[in-house]
Amino acid sequence: MSPLDLVAAKRMVGCRAAEEVRDGMVVGLGTGSTVFFAIERLGERIAKEGLSIAGVPTSYQAAMRARRYGVLLTDLDEHPELDLAIDGADQVDPRFRLVKGRGAALLREKCVCDAAREVLIVVDPSKMVERLDAPVPVEVLPFAAGSVSRRLEALGADPVLREGVRKDGPVITDNGNFIIDCNFGPVTNPDRLEAEMISIPGVIECGLFSAYGEKITVILGDGDGCRVLSLR
Ligand code: 5RP
Repeated sequence: MSPLDLVAAKRMVGCRAAEEVRDGMVVGLGTGSTVFFAIERLGERIAKEGLSIAGVPTSYQAAMRARRYGVLLTDLDEHPELDLAIDGADQVDPRFRLVKGRGAALLREKCVCDAAREVLIVVDPSKMVERLDAPVPVEVLPFAAGSVSRRLEALGADPVLREGVRKDGPVITDNGNFIIDCNFGPVTNPDRLEAEMISIPGVIECGLFSAYGEKITVILGDGDGCRVLSLR
């Protein structure tokens, strides 16, 4: 897919997801270049249709975009249960288990995914895989980065501390933590690996989302059209 086609696909699925939002909903707003189009479309619907919604942003990026497009913001204290969440993913397997966190927003994204009754995952076809094999980002307490790295190595990873771009030193997440990217190769048992990683003291969250397949709807677009996929 050419870079232009890819942008068209992202726009198509983002806009399609925004059409699922109904008046009065509280919506989790994911992070990344695909959700960008969903937030933009929500802004259009607010302006043109008078759609009244509130959004829970998963990052500073999502919050800034939402403000720019006129989406009222709220949080999980005000709304511990969300009607819907819209988010992207780095990989999706046939049971709708995900790798997320390229944008380092995985911690709040998982909180929002967990709080949402329904989750729309917006992706282009390159994200759909038979087996998850992308490096799994892990959000780690800086104090424990060394000991956590050793534990992740013992699980079979090749842990790499994520470095900033146009910023010297490590990436600092919106929550003040480090990200360690863990290449495991093909992941044979995502559910077990997720449980093992999050049990390590100092790991705050990991980018494997293996428990949400039943409430996820995948909106898959290639620029020519969208397919809506569900396990239900
Ligand atoms: C951010 C994420 C993103 O949702 C994921 O990386 C997909 O991003 P994009 O839509 O830009 O491909 O997990 O932490």
